[in-house]
Amino acid sequence: MTANDAVSEWALADLEAVEHLGGRIAAVLEPGDVVALEGPLGAGKTSLARAILRGCGFAGEVPSPTFTIIELYEPPLTRLPVVHADFYRVSSLRERDELGLTDYRRGAVLLAEWPEKIGGFSEDPQCLRIGIAFAATGRWATIERGDAWRNRML
Ligand SMILES: Nc1ncnc2c1ncn2[C@@H]1O[C@H](COP(=O)(O)OP(=O)(O)OP(=O)(O)O)[C@@H](O)[C@H]1O
Ligand SMILES: [Mg+2]
Repeated sequence: MTANDAVSEWALADLEAVEHLGGRIAAVLEPGDVVALEGPLGAGKTSLARAILRGCGFAGEVPSPTFTIIELYEPPLTRLPVVHADFYRVSSLRERDELGLTDYRRGAVLLAEWPEKIGGFSEDPQCLRIGIAFAATGRWATIERGDAWRNRML
C-alpha cells in the first residue's frame, strides 16, 4: 500500500512486512522527524524501530531501550543520526526534562516507543504517528502523517 493520505492502514502480517515498512520509512526520513510508535506491550514497536534502523544502514544488533531509555545511532553506522527511545519507564515531567531529549534530537531522527508517556508529539508537523494493533494474522498499523510528511511517499 502506498496511499499518501493523512491517515492510512497497513497490514503487517509478519516480520517481513515490518521490515518492508521500516525500509520505506527509513528511505524518506529527514533530520528533526519523530516516528511515534504506539501500541500495547508486545505490539511490535521495537521490531519496527529495528527495521527503520536497518533501513538507515545500521547493521548491528539493536537492543530494546527499555532500561537505558535512550540509545543513539550515528553516522557512519547510519546515514543520519537516529535516537531510539522507550519512554515506558518515564513517569514524571521532571524525569522527561532530565533526559536531555532536545539536545539528542538536534539534527537527528527520533524513534519513540511509548510517546504518550511524555505527552506525545501530535502537535509536531514532523511527526509520523504509527499505532500498532494485534490482528488475527500479525498486526495492523495505522499511520498518521504530520504536515511535513504529506508529500513524502511511503
Ligand atoms: N507484524 C508482526 N507480526 C508478527 N509478529 C510480530 C510482528 N511485529 C512484532 N512481532 C513480534 O512480537 C513480539 C514483540 O515485539 P516487540 O518487542 O517489537 O514489541 P514492543 O511493542 O516493542 O513491546 P514493548 O511494549 O514491550 O516495548 C516479538 O516477538 C516480535 O517478533
Ligand atoms: Mg519495545
